[in-house]
Amino acid sequence: MRLTSTVPRPEATQVDQQKRVAAEFAAQFVESGMVVGLGTGSTVAHLLPALAARRLDIRCVATSPATARQAEALGLVVMLFDAFDRFDVAIDGADQISPEGWLVKGGGAAHTREKIVAAAADRFIVIADAGKTVAAITAPIPVEIMRYGMAATLRQLMPIRLRDVPESPDGGVIADFFGAVDDPRELAAWLAATPGVVDHGLFGPELVSDIVIASATGVEHRTLPRPQETQ
Ligand code: 5RP
Repeated sequence: MRLTSTVPRPEATQVDQQKRVAAEFAAQFVESGMVVGLGTGSTVAHLLPALAARRLDIRCVATSPATARQAEALGLVVMLFDAFDRFDVAIDGADQISPEGWLVKGGGAAHTREKIVAAAADRFIVIADAGKTVAAITAPIPVEIMRYGMAATLRQLMPIRLRDVPESPDGGVIADFFGAVDDPRELAAWLAATPGVVDHGLFGPELVSDIVIASATGVEHRTLPRPQETQ
């Protein structure tokens, strides 16, 4: 007989608790009047109730249908991206965070929209549990590719595996690149330059303003200079 249990493992509960702490910390940076980009994933799922509880006068844009549904159910005002050309702030999770501030995103297959929103935000805040910090970025790197000519694109990107998930809301096919990541910037440039690639899950440090990581011992908040601040 196979026994199953619905009681979460203690370590899973702790990770979830860290996600919640990081999300609640970042929610404090949002102010009334702001236009807010909302990421996707289980960490962002903790951000939405924290934002809703503050009863701020904000307008939000969601990076996925799942985030839009949850945000609307909580009473947040969710609008189409078409209504805006910038955000005051965007907040999102990550799958890997390197010491230099490189991110891997797209575990939830939403990295293409998430990167557009992050790039359009004056301030992009990354929220995560301590398990997301890595010494160096490694595969898998999510990619979204066009269905048209998919086999040829995949051939260019070997070693790569299609992910068994639905198409993105924009009709893209999701796959994971399993090659070496010697230099994230070089790999990011190569992936972006490959015809058929819509976008990939490598986010450079220049996109990131803040990193909020919750661990068993507390919250670490790092700020990174964005290019307009270093000029
Ligand atoms: C979705 C993402 C998520 O932000 C990333 O996968 C982290 O997810 P979670 O908060 O569930 O750990 O990039 O495309």
